Amino acid sequence: MSTIEEEFISTVSHELRTPLTSIRGFSQTLLNSWDRIKDDDKKKFIGIIEEQSNRLIHLVENILSVSKLNAGMQVFKEVDVNNSIRKVLPIIENQYKTHKFVLELMSNLPSAYLDDDKFQQIMTNLIDNAAKYSDCGSTVTIKTEIFENKICITVQDEGVGIKEEDKDKVFKKFSRLENHLTSKTQGNGLGLYITKQLVEKMQGTIDFESFVGKGSSFKVTFPFYNQEEALRCSQIS
Ligand SMILES: Nc1ncnc2c1ncn2[C@@H]1O[C@H](COP(=O)(O)OP(=O)(O)OP(=O)(O)O)[C@@H](O)[C@H]1O
Ligand SMILES: [Mg+2]
Repeated sequence: MSTIEEEFISTVSHELRTPLTSIRGFSQTLLNSWDRIKDDDKKKFIGIIEEQSNRLIHLVENILSVSKLNAGMQVFKEVDVNNSIRKVLPIIENQYKTHKFVLELMSNLPSAYLDDDKFQQIMTNLIDNAAKYSDCGSTVTIKTEIFENKICITVQDEGVGIKEEDKDKVFKKFSRLENHLTSKTQGNGLGLYITKQLVEKMQGTIDFESFVGKGSSFKVTFPFYNQEEALRCSQIS
């Protein structure tokens, strides 16, 4: 086993152990002291068990995504990017009810040549981060346009931002940065690692700009579905 694999397994085991220990602890407390625990506390403990189970499911899903990254299981087809964004947004809106989500989607945007499920996974990760690392009530804007003869998708937030010295860490596996929202929110630091790998597998690019206290803007670009389209759009843009 390579050192990288060993490191990965050791980090994953640690990430698994924390929620499992908590689930076991609260289940044991409930089982052993059921009659002595107040109803309110019972509810609170069961809530923690549910939250930690969700955390485990999220981690296992992300680990599966990482392990599938090199399996080459992609189904490329013509994708209407705006349409896919409209599909993923309601799921995230439902989780972040106090945030405002604004779509600025270019009409007549040319199609891209992508694996639609993977594209939706990319958008979910970026929009989820934008909402997760910004305060309640703030706005997340998702914009599509043609930029330098490519399809360009920007997810912009008004959140905590990323410090200059942390900027080279964001796409690394299991890296979560220090800010007042990281400790309050759940995550394993795998989302952006997976996102970057997926983007690059689909001939895309990903980049971001960020200012502490002001917000971040993640930009993804993909080539057009076909060359004729590319030519036509190079005349528009
Ligand atoms: N829009 C953003 N604004 C501020 N910080 C961000 C933003 N997106 C990511 N980060 C920082 O980069 C880290 C890595 O992001 P990533 O999506 O990989 O992990 P995560 O959100 O912590 O967990 P996961 O996505 O695996 O649930 C985050 O923990 C956060 O500190
Ligand atoms: Mg994330």
